[in-house]
Amino acid sequence: MMNDNLSFNPVTITGIGRYIPETVITNEDIAKLVDTNDEWITSRTGIKQRRVVSGNETATSLAYKAALDALAFADVKPEDVDLIIVATSLPDSLYPSTACEVQAEIGAVNAAAFNLVAACTGLVYGLNVARNFIMTGTYKKVLLLGVDVHSRFLDWEDRSTCILFGDGAGALLLEQSADGQNDVLSVDMHANGKKAGELSIPLNGKNCPLVEPNEAKQQYVNMNGKEIYKFAVSVVPKSIKHALSGAGLSTDNIDYLIPHQANMRIVSSIMERLGLSEEQVIANLDKYGNTSTASICVALVEEIMNGKIKQDSIMAMCGFGAGLTWGTAIVRWRALDKRKK
Ligand code: UT7
Repeated sequence: MMNDNLSFNPVTITGIGRYIPETVITNEDIAKLVDTNDEWITSRTGIKQRRVVSGNETATSLAYKAALDALAFADVKPEDVDLIIVATSLPDSLYPSTACEVQAEIGAVNAAAFNLVAACTGLVYGLNVARNFIMTGTYKKVLLLGVDVHSRFLDWEDRSTCILFGDGAGALLLEQSADGQNDVLSVDMHANGKKAGELSIPLNGKNCPLVEPNEAKQQYVNMNGKEIYKFAVSVVPKSIKHALSGAGLSTDNIDYLIPHQANMRIVSSIMERLGLSEEQVIANLDKYGNTSTASICVALVEEIMNGKIKQDSIMAMCGFGAGLTWGTAIVRWRALDKRKK
């Protein structure tokens, strides 16, 4: 774990944004495609509906809208952004990166840009990368985006996976804090590549035809749901405690838990293991399903906009997913108008 007691530039979140596509797919809709029903999906996952892209919508177009929201919230011009990080596992292309495409579309002409792949832990990993660039003085303003478009990589005939995911994007603008207060208090990150096969989307390229003939294979989500479930409930509470201890805090200091929105039963188990109350848990998977890298950010942004997350609220934001990866960020929210600009 990083030593959070060293003296570095303080970091704060000044901008928030999110975009969810408009097309709604309910559990009843999915029951027209595969042998499932609303009762099974609701009781096993907590999901009632999800949103999916349509027409010309892409990961980049979702991320672009979330990015503009975050910049407008922070009142920062695109040309003042130093770095764009897009956490995504389902970009529109292997290259160019989504980050470069967003950079061009928003006009962040002075920003460097790259994608980061850590699946549903991407926002937590991205927060750590972003804050380190600011803490060390390399950059002053970093735009962190989390976006995934799962709906184009699901086997819509596989009822064990197609019910779970939705599409979406979230955005955070991180800046060097003008008043000296640090608000990204601690980040804990882990990986276990030995379990990579439990959740994957293989990229099935073809060999050179001069070497051997090839069959094109389809590229869909492969998941061992039970293993991912057991993994999440066992590692995430420990990660939250690690991150809290890195910030010199305990579970008593958490105002809200913002877990990756994968399954309500996983969320409840984490809540119980930490002794938190239902009121302290932010959950929106009934509306959006599992939006993967976007899920934590979308939940954070919506509860700030709804007024539930208030000035000085402390959040434990925890992610887990393919890699396998997992981790937690402890973050304090301070409303912009209370800060020196
Ligand atoms: O971002 C991280 C991504 N992944 C996750 O977080 C996934 C974590 N895992 C889960 O959320 C759960 O394991 C699932 C929701 C995926 C599955 O729930 P489960 O309670 O582990 O169900 P199961 O796989 O043990 O399946 C129980 C039964 C099986 O039938 P039999 O063998 O008992 O006759 C399945 O075939 O439910 C059946 N089933 C379904 N039935 C109706 C599986 N999917 C469905 C479905 N509708 N959609």
